[in-house]
Amino acid sequence: MALLPKIAIRGLDREVILIQGGMGAGVSGARLAGAVAQRGGVGTVSPLALDRILELRLGRKIGHGEAAKLEIEEAKRLSENHGAIALNCMVLIERTYALYIKGALEGGVEIIIAGAGLPMTLPEIVGGAEVALIPIVSSGRALEIICRRWTRYNRMPDAVVLEGPLAGGHLGFKAEDISKPEFQLEEIFGPVKEVAQKYGGFPVIVAGGIYSHQDIIRWIRAGADGVQIGTRFAATRESHASDAFKRAIVAARAEDIEVATNPGSPAGLPFRVIKTSPGYQEAFAHGRPLLCDKQYLLHNGKDGRLTCLALEGYNAFCICNALLSAIDCNDTPDLPIYTVGANAARVNRILSVDELMDELIGATP
Ligand SMILES: Cc1cc2nc3c(=O)[nH]c(=O)nc-3n(C[C@H](O)[C@H](O)[C@H](O)COP(=O)(O)O)c2cc1C
Repeated sequence: MALLPKIAIRGLDREVILIQGGMGAGVSGARLAGAVAQRGGVGTVSPLALDRILELRLGRKIGHGEAAKLEIEEAKRLSENHGAIALNCMVLIERTYALYIKGALEGGVEIIIAGAGLPMTLPEIVGGAEVALIPIVSSGRALEIICRRWTRYNRMPDAVVLEGPLAGGHLGFKAEDISKPEFQLEEIFGPVKEVAQKYGGFPVIVAGGIYSHQDIIRWIRAGADGVQIGTRFAATRESHASDAFKRAIVAARAEDIEVATNPGSPAGLPFRVIKTSPGYQEAFAHGRPLLCDKQYLLHNGKDGRLTCLALEGYNAFCICNALLSAIDCNDTPDLPIYTVGANAARVNRILSVDELMDELIGATP
């Protein structure tokens, strides 16, 4: 099986896995993922809405699978054969999940990182392909369920990402649990490590609130094998976030960041946002009717027909349009919503990936 690349960190006597987390829609495209991998890390491409993003870039219609394949190929080219390129996929994007994976495999992806739901059938989807599989979980229980199911395929995760409640994007916790002490990363780490040990001792990679070189050292000394970082990479020059999104991250103070539930994401999971995001403010004011013209989140609705939760009476904003606008890649005038981790409040300037990697590995004081 493909090996996970590791990177030296000043102050540690063993190398660690450093993943730039997948950030949809389009924030973590080939340019960002390729730059991270070029420095020896894992650069993760998000395939969400890539068909539309590439259609705008290439000027022709393109399917989900081909879009994933092309973006992975481009990320690999930019990585110059260093590090590794991963695909992030969200299990709840059920209509396109397997198409993205198959396209990415054709593009030579080395790692699949799957979250936002339990990737119960992932080994079956990849078949015999030489690719590392990394589920994202938020509890030991979720990891146990996945491992038990994967025994059926004679396969175990190559690593697991444990994402705590300070992360950006969708959160795998009930809204009321997010700030409870017993659900913080430090508390949920032990049970996940135990399950990983029980099923062969695969690496545990922590995510959510990891900001500095010191944070990495602290987590590795506490028993983690690696870290996944999102928000800091969203605020790099190579990130595909719009300039307005990057400026909003730099400007955000702790009190500007909150977990959206009502109005919330049509995915039905808590979603951390910058409160002042224009699309979020508009959703509060019920400023724009929901059209569901992008349709990435369709699922079998109450009446058996394909529908989006946003149209089922749940007080949701149109996340597909809001996220596409947050990367300046929308053909409709919807206002953007910016998702970030809690530590966006600490980001005070935009760095290049090189500068950020130097800071994280401790190459710069
Ligand atoms: C802009 C943004 C978009 C994200 N989108 C996704 C996504 O599409 N899928 C996913 O699994 N995680 C997503 N995440 C979570 C990140 O991959 C990462 O695990 C998390 O942000 C780590 O916490 P940190 O931001 O405190 O470093 C997103 C995070 C951000 C900031």
